[in-house]
Amino acid sequence: MENKMPKDFFWGNSTSSMQTEGGWNEGGKGPSVYDVNTAGRSAKDWQVTNDNYHHYSQDLDLMKEMNMNMYRFQISWSRIVPDGDGEFNEEGIAFYNRLIDDLLARGIEPMICLYHFDMPLNLAEKYNGFLSRKVKEAFVRFGQEMMKRFADKVKYWIVFNEHNLYFADGFEHYSGVLKKELTLSDMYTVFHHTMLAHCELTQFLHENFEAKIGGMLATTEIYPATFSPKDNLYLRKFDEFYNRNLCDVYAFGHYSHEVMTYVKNQNIQMDFQKGDEEILKNGISDFISFSYYRSILLDASQLTENDAPNSYLTKGMKLNPLLEHNQWDWSIDPEGFRRILSRLYNEFGLPVFPIENGIGQSEIWDGKTKIADDLRIFYHQKHLEAMKKAIFTDGVEVMGYLGWGLIDIPASSGAIDKRYGAVYVDPKSHKRIPKKSFHWFKNVFASNGDHL
Ligand code: BG6
Repeated sequence: MENKMPKDFFWGNSTSSMQTEGGWNEGGKGPSVYDVNTAGRSAKDWQVTNDNYHHYSQDLDLMKEMNMNMYRFQISWSRIVPDGDGEFNEEGIAFYNRLIDDLLARGIEPMICLYHFDMPLNLAEKYNGFLSRKVKEAFVRFGQEMMKRFADKVKYWIVFNEHNLYFADGFEHYSGVLKKELTLSDMYTVFHHTMLAHCELTQFLHENFEAKIGGMLATTEIYPATFSPKDNLYLRKFDEFYNRNLCDVYAFGHYSHEVMTYVKNQNIQMDFQKGDEEILKNGISDFISFSYYRSILLDASQLTENDAPNSYLTKGMKLNPLLEHNQWDWSIDPEGFRRILSRLYNEFGLPVFPIENGIGQSEIWDGKTKIADDLRIFYHQKHLEAMKKAIFTDGVEVMGYLGWGLIDIPASSGAIDKRYGAVYVDPKSHKRIPKKSFHWFKNVFASNGDHL
């Protein structure tokens, strides 16, 4: 019998506000760390984006034409609460209300993400972002308000994009922390505050609405660089700290025992207060979502027992010579995708949802010829084949598949030369031009994944 994908499977697109919206100083929006130079990138790049704030109807039409039935977007905190903890900006709320209604009118299910690295500038400057419990509280207030306004129509939510990066070395700005040289106590405090916010919002949604909410991880499949036991030992540790520690909260309501033992042994002060344990217990997720782009090797010869697991990502990573890479050295590894899907599902038992996947390519439109992005088609085709094996051979419950930035947006560096889209966006005119992959996706989505 031919294997058929579930009828209610989601196919769609995924974005963040700072990479997509533009209109950074319009509609009453306050500045975020990405609108000025504090996030370490060029502010002017972020202010351009693909200008979806002014083109969203056209983008929704393109998504519909591609036969998508889900769009995951972010509500920008500083568009809703310009200074992060003061008045709500009704004009910003009206913008997202229109977006949601227009999606639903096109038969596209919205999924809302509440935070994707763009801390309101005021909270970063005043309190160092999520290092402060006050900011956690301001964020929960914002999140609850968004649920009160939208959860009657929006049935899928996530709180933090790539939540496991918030405690990793080199990613401090993701949580709005401007302080330099963070201690381990700082890093774990930031992480704990965000996890509390995640669980409080999860509980709030469950108690008040019929909607689902998930955790969200950045996954990179990691292989040991050699057969050495040391590589394998550190690889397991990496998985425990970067993935399992979060999934333990999403699925079971507590942090990993190994991570907590480390916290105790290192005398890390993570602002764990009375009542926090209960909050974690009451915030069990409905699904685990994740981004997946590539795999990498872990070379533990460069690590010692004194290295904090927070630094493994920056210190021990190596390219895999057996795989093909794009021009940014991101490997193409669909089997890694299948391993992540199966592992997460087998170990935590919650439905899994890949909500970011794709390949960055440098493309320039010559004004007339269709962009032939064959490598992108190949990439998605192989990842979808791998996903189907995870579903039909490994028995994984997968809720859907969302590509990243399928209408071109700038990369996380702010540069527009690394594109993920099936639709080319001209950076100056903002004209949208479908690429070859647009037609391929259209067919895949229309056939519910039968025609890859
Ligand atoms: C994810 C982020 O890490 O990867 C996105 O959620 C980002 O914001 C995407 O754009 C792809 O990474 P990059 O650096 O190629 O844009």
